[in-house]
Amino acid sequence: MSDPFLIGDTMTGGYGKGPDILHDCTVAVERGEIAVIVGPNGAGKSTAMKAVFGMLDVRAGAVRLDGEDITHLSPQDRVLKGMGFVPQNANIFTSMTVEENLEMGAFIRRDDFSGTMEQVYDLFPILREKRRQPAGELSGGQRQQVAVGRALMTEPKVLMLDEPTAGVSPIVMDELFDRIIEVARTGIPILMVEQNARQALEIADKGYVLVQGRNAHTGTGKELLADEEVRRSFLGG
Ligand SMILES: Nc1ncnc2c1ncn2[C@@H]1O[C@H](COP(=O)(O)OP(=O)(O)OP(=O)(O)O)[C@@H](O)[C@H]1O
Ligand SMILES: [Mg+2]
Repeated sequence: MSDPFLIGDTMTGGYGKGPDILHDCTVAVERGEIAVIVGPNGAGKSTAMKAVFGMLDVRAGAVRLDGEDITHLSPQDRVLKGMGFVPQNANIFTSMTVEENLEMGAFIRRDDFSGTMEQVYDLFPILREKRRQPAGELSGGQRQQVAVGRALMTEPKVLMLDEPTAGVSPIVMDELFDRIIEVARTGIPILMVEQNARQALEIADKGYVLVQGRNAHTGTGKELLADEEVRRSFLGG
């Protein structure tokens, strides 16, 4: 099988009965790799992620997970198939404690998930310290850790992250990227959208530049970082 582990393949679609936002858009991640989607605001990065997760109609194209066509599955069924998704907005329950957020993440599990929770706390030690605190009292970077931790609670086979470092300082961004690399090394491929394009492409095995719902540039992280046009247009020279 030459198919990537997860692929949104030449997807065209939009919201409800509205116009197409995505035009033959392809994003994918291979086993054991990190794939990064970058591009200007409004390019359709979040829309592409939502399409892969089944939150909007794909009018043409397909989504496949481990070789299986899942184009018509609901988001809930995709979670059961092993997809974890951290959306760009409203990705935690602010009035619930950190631990309750993680428990909510495990909603599909019938087995004992305490071991997974320990793994999340080992990955993000600050969350263990703050486990009894309402998540809304945490800093931006800590909230993002809760959101990623929540998604890990289902023991996903692939993790999708929409701007996991939004609104955090450069130091916190570096730490989050380190944790994301650590997750990828445990064998969970990661498909993520990032506004910190240069830093994200540095850790990306594969990169996608989207513009107006279309693939503008695709390559390894290294290739995109070295591409004159990509540098000039999207990386600030
Ligand atoms: N729920 C929605 N209903 C209708 N149109 C939407 C919806 N969400 C986004 N759009 C439109 O889809 C287009 C792409 O938006 P999207 O959020 O995917 O961009 P993005 O690349 O993620 O931008 P950003 O970098 O700001 O997060 C925009 O024109 C936006 O107005
Ligand atoms: Mg977005």
